[in-house]
Amino acid sequence: MKKFEAKIEKLKEKFDDALEKARGQKKSLQDLRHEFLSRKRGHITRLFEELKELPVEERPAFGKLLNEFKNYVLEKLSKDVSVKPAPIQYEAVPREPTVITAEREDLTLPGRSLYWGAPHPVMLFAQEIEDIFLAMGFSVAEGPEIETDYYNFEALNFPPHHPARDDWDTLYISEDLLLRTHTSPMQIRVMEKNKPPIRIIIPGRVFRREAIDPTHLPMFYQVEGLLVDESVTFAHLKGTLEHFLRALLGEKIAIRFRPSFFPFTEPSAEVDIGCTVCRGQDPGCSVCGGTGWKELLGAGMVDPQVLKNVNIDPEKYSGWAFGLGIERAAMFSHRISDMRTFYENDLRFIRQFSLK
Ligand code: DAH
Repeated sequence: MKKFEAKIEKLKEKFDDALEKARGQKKSLQDLRHEFLSRKRGHITRLFEELKELPVEERPAFGKLLNEFKNYVLEKLSKDVSVKPAPIQYEAVPREPTVITAEREDLTLPGRSLYWGAPHPVMLFAQEIEDIFLAMGFSVAEGPEIETDYYNFEALNFPPHHPARDDWDTLYISEDLLLRTHTSPMQIRVMEKNKPPIRIIIPGRVFRREAIDPTHLPMFYQVEGLLVDESVTFAHLKGTLEHFLRALLGEKIAIRFRPSFFPFTEPSAEVDIGCTVCRGQDPGCSVCGGTGWKELLGAGMVDPQVLKNVNIDPEKYSGWAFGLGIERAAMFSHRISDMRTFYENDLRFIRQFSLK
């Protein structure tokens, strides 16, 4: 098939001519490469197509010739530096201005583990308190945060206009409804519904007009305790509280009872504990004010008038009660010098308690 060979010869001449003219001209050389080698319509590509139509026995010889020619073309073109693959020209495409350019995902970074959350430290501490009392046979109840004047004051032996109310000032929702100032109203609600023997604790949130400082917040948690039965004495109160405080804060905690006054208990006491924050060493301690002691709870024997208010016979029954500030106790347990840190929601602080 001389015809095929002739075709190659002719093309070679054509190529040599064109190459001579195009020498040094980048554009022309590129066109030349295209004309001969383009994958769709290049002369050489076409000849390869034609090759397939030749009789099988002729194909190897002509294939060889064609390949030689192809290599010849490639070599000639590649000698000219300008025929190196042309740099790709990008056209500027108008598009929306990119807003976030600095933020790029770094796909090589390891994934961030999720923090699933945990109970708040004050809740965890309330649970510790509940566990101690549950082990002593007490039950646990909760009550409303919005109370009536009757439960918050009147039934607890605070007559209207009694000066003791000043210490429990709060927000009033109406003349008769207020944000409870303590958990003590639950004493009344429990005794109205249950007959002695009663052993119960009531944790919950309370509200007061307070100037905020390291040991005072206008919203905080208390736990109320109430025990009513026959022949209950102050000694039972003292023994129970001492056991409770040592179980909660450690065997070595210093405890002292001070005489005090509450309208709903008689006699009344306040219980202080030795300051664990400064251990009595810092005259400027923000928690104990340098005294080495801090009040943790109020307590006393349930006033006979309160028992009468709920139709429990004070001749037959007696009882004791206490109310303790949960955040304060937590401060002493964990040696935290400022109560406000519980509610600033700084995860570096809060997470420490759930990483047990
Ligand atoms: N309710 C009192 C307060 O908030 C604390 C208290 C004192 C509770 C004596 C009691 C108690 O149950 O007997 O300051």
